Amino acid sequence: MKKILFVFAVFSLAIISCGETKKEDVKKEAEAPIEVAEEAPAAKDDMIALGEKLFTEKTCVSCHQIDAKIVGPSVKDIVKIYDQYDASLVEFLKGDKEAIVETDPGQVAIMKANLDGFVKDLKENELEALAAYMHSVK
Ligand code: HEC
Repeated sequence: MKKILFVFAVFSLAIISCGETKKEDVKKEAEAPIEVAEEAPAAKDDMIALGEKLFTEKTCVSCHQIDAKIVGPSVKDIVKIYDQYDASLVEFLKGDKEAIVETDPGQVAIMKANLDGFVKDLKENELEALAAYMHSVK
């Protein structure tokens, strides 16, 4: 009888321990880093490349060098002032804003002749490309 009881005890222990639910490791899902591409780099590069092309083709380069003032202020000087005033190159090129880099009327007239001459025929995205290029040479 004792033996039977013992076996029974062992048997029920076994059942109890088997019945215990094993705590499953709750694997925390590794938080996947969410990459928020503010601007697709390739698209930005394309804009800059287009801007650079236009800057040469549309003769801007004949009056504006990157580093040195020739007829007009250097691109770096222009961008520096535009950044400082948080101003828009596109708006200037559209003729919507007054000159802020050089305000001497004689100088302004030279640039104004370009704006009224051929810059007004450029498309919005071409003006944005020119602005992107100018900002990229910092
Ligand atoms: C014939 C010479 C000449 C050409 C070509 C020329 N510019 Fe200018 N640009 C000037 C002169 C001079 C100034 C200085 C007067 C002024 O700031 O408006 C100037 C000024 C600027 C400014 C600064 C405006 C400001 O706020 O003072 C920008 C931006 C500019 N040019 C962009 C361009 C772009 C882009 C092109 C080509 C599409 C171009 N320029 C072609 C002579 C030229």
